[in-house]
Amino acid sequence: MSKRVYIYTVGCQMNQLDSQLVADLLGQLGYQVVESTRQADIILFNTCSVRQHAEEKIYSLLGRLKHLKRQHPQKIIGVLGCMAQKDQEAIFRRAPHVDLVVGPGQLVHLPELLAQARRATGPVLAVSPWAEGLDRRTLLAGFEPFDPPRRPQAGQPPFQAYVRIMSGCNKACTYCVVPRVRGPEQCRPPEEILEEVHRLADAGCLEVTLLGQTVNSYQYHSGGRTIRLADLLAQLHQIEGIRRIRFLTNHPRHMTDELLQAVRDLPKVCPCFHVPAQSGSNTVLRRMQRGYTVEYYRQMLARIRQTVPDAAITSDFIVGFCGETEEDFQQTVRLVEEARFKNAYIFKYSPRPGTKAAECYPDDVPQAIKRRRNNQLLQRQNQISLEENQKFIGRLVEVLVEGPSKLGQKAPETQATLQLTGRTRCERIVVFPGDRRLAGQFRMVRITGATPTTLLGHLEEQPRGSSSQPECEMLLPLLPISAPK
Ligand code: SAH
Ligand code: SF4
Ligand code: F3S
Repeated sequence: MSKRVYIYTVGCQMNQLDSQLVADLLGQLGYQVVESTRQADIILFNTCSVRQHAEEKIYSLLGRLKHLKRQHPQKIIGVLGCMAQKDQEAIFRRAPHVDLVVGPGQLVHLPELLAQARRATGPVLAVSPWAEGLDRRTLLAGFEPFDPPRRPQAGQPPFQAYVRIMSGCNKACTYCVVPRVRGPEQCRPPEEILEEVHRLADAGCLEVTLLGQTVNSYQYHSGGRTIRLADLLAQLHQIEGIRRIRFLTNHPRHMTDELLQAVRDLPKVCPCFHVPAQSGSNTVLRRMQRGYTVEYYRQMLARIRQTVPDAAITSDFIVGFCGETEEDFQQTVRLVEEARFKNAYIFKYSPRPGTKAAECYPDDVPQAIKRRRNNQLLQRQNQISLEENQKFIGRLVEVLVEGPSKLGQKAPETQATLQLTGRTRCERIVVFPGDRRLAGQFRMVRITGATPTTLLGHLEEQPRGSSSQPECEMLLPLLPISAPK
């Protein structure tokens, strides 16, 4: 039986990692990953439920497959991930040509479930038990960790990898569906994480990004000791070959001094903090049940900047949450103006069935006002991002080259015109002309221009030890520039 699988992914980094792990797990079982639904025997959608828009996109793509399924009934169509857990059998009702629905807490069983679906005995549903008031032990048992042994080349490209250090979430933000679809927080044993990163490093991985919904609340009790994120960073820092360590997403309440000091003291740990504020109004934060005030958040920002002065801080905001007044919104604008985030993701509130906000508070901010607030906040943030990026003009930055830039791919390719992208330690995207074979190497780039999202520049060979203007990278001694392969 032929085993060609196509995987389409939406959602956060956690979902991207799950898709990479699914592809690798199936690859180890002889499946081949293909690039189109036509070529595939198995079509998988790894889905997101965080906003309604993400779900509509999947239902619309599923709708478009009805015809293909009618023509090729032997093709298996599967819905994986957060929307699978949230909508469960309702997916079969809305899209009757779907064969398989698997929640994130059941992905570990995917190979058997696929085999079951291929025996064509009817729709296959595998989701974790979830009900209001279900005890924690049952919930934990139902959301099984999905961290299968991965081949080092599982993530693309091989020099960068996501590494899950925890799954689920123990917070109860009233707007958010994540705890319901990903289950309670479960931290991976540190030995398992270290082992995985060692193997990735041995295979040439240079940069790891540690993932968790509230990554800075990581804690693992073992042998009478508690290992926290700061301890884990120190241990990962010792792994030879790894040059950069990132982590996201942080929760403001877990930004301990110990963690900030670890970021300050461990040169491989990038000085980046994605720490969503969600709102600048205490009334809204209380209604969101975020567990902090805006004064607390401001103090936390001050602590980050005091300990890690070159920190790049990014945030998320929801505009138009239930009951948000114009004054509440203006408080958010003020926070954005003061905080000078490197960038911020801004979302219009989208009620999620089953969350406390959807059940208890009316979604009373009209769409037009949500849209206006979104644009206004985005405009303000873009201006700040541009000003912060312009400070880099004239500086020399070290980038890890990632490959051809999306912009450059459109132009006819010559060696001189091909645009590459790379990333600085402070996670700024840099676009510059160069040879695609530089992907996976560290290079020095002189910055000559800036937009709100991108730095522009040109490659500059920097002899080791020469003096260069310090920038956010340069707390780190200049690392040797690797020779082209
Ligand atoms: N764990 C992360 C975020 C997970 S979801 C954290 O705690 O910050 C990513 C972002 O989506 C959130 O930060 C929030 O800004 C946004 N989001 C979550 N639920 C939403 C909803 N119902 N409507 C609009 N945006 C939402
Ligand atoms: Fe959702 Fe809040 Fe958990 Fe983030 S911390 S995943 S916003 S419940
Ligand atoms: Fe979406 Fe699930 Fe991530 S709901 S944001 S894919 S954890």
